[in-house]
Amino acid sequence: MREPQLEAREPLLDVEGLTVSFDGFKALDGMSLRLTSSSVRVLIGPNGAGKSTLCDAIIGHVRPVSGRVVFKGKDITSLPEYQIVRKGICRKFQTPGVLESLTVEENLALSARRHRECWRSFGRTLSGEGRACVNETLELIGLAEKRNMLAGQLAHGQKQWLEIGIVVASDADLLLLDEPAAGMSHGEAAQTAELIRRLSQWHSFLVIDHDMAFVAQLDAPVSVMHMGRLLKEGTLAEVRNDPQVAAVYLGRAEEVSRACA
Ligand SMILES: Nc1ncnc2c1ncn2[C@@H]1O[C@H](COP(=O)(O)OP(=O)(O)O)[C@@H](O)[C@H]1O
Ligand SMILES: [Mg+2]
Repeated sequence: MREPQLEAREPLLDVEGLTVSFDGFKALDGMSLRLTSSSVRVLIGPNGAGKSTLCDAIIGHVRPVSGRVVFKGKDITSLPEYQIVRKGICRKFQTPGVLESLTVEENLALSARRHRECWRSFGRTLSGEGRACVNETLELIGLAEKRNMLAGQLAHGQKQWLEIGIVVASDADLLLLDEPAAGMSHGEAAQTAELIRRLSQWHSFLVIDHDMAFVAQLDAPVSVMHMGRLLKEGTLAEVRNDPQVAAVYLGRAEEVSRACA
């Protein structure tokens, strides 16, 4: 078991009362969330709760009508997406993904070359720092022995780990992962949870997932969204035992809001 997350840690990301409207429909309706550095947060909620829209709004893909996103103390709400990425937020599926005709190592080297620090070197070969980053990432994702294998020949789970490695090698501080364990076997999902936990020593993760076994393995605080807002935050056991959370998952949200009115 790892140490409990420290509340006193510096905030990395503050989402403050974010509202996103699609033709009058509020996909986010005053959503707030705080993430600290070197942490994992799980985000769950029924379909349509606004989880993907929240990631879109954080990364600057959609614009809120009100509210703010503050990252490392700076208001990034109105920055263009590419500047937000360069400030250190990465959404996994927005990376080019795995290039199947390149080796595992080449995939990571390409990403490390895009590393903000490496941009200064402009060299054709990787800098010493870039090379060290590739080697370290290969170890972390457990693919050191497969470094010369074509990425297209990896098993599904291994490709996902390589994708996570690609994001890590690009040195993002905050990684937004939308269902990283989808389509994986139980064993692969468990290894993915372990990988995310290990990487959270250096990076923060916001992980959206429905698979409760996987969420339990992440062993992290859980935020529950419903109708574009934060419904509940706590440990997995706390949110699981919460009657409001149970109700929204059973589709009885209206009853609950009447009962709480
Ligand atoms: N581009 C869009 N245009 C109109 N409605 C959208 C758009 N994107 C999402 N929505 C709506 O916003 C709500 C939240 O969607 P989403 O963020 O994808 O939920 P989740 O990821 O939690 O399933 C849904 O009702 C969805 O239909
Ligand atoms: Mg979604």
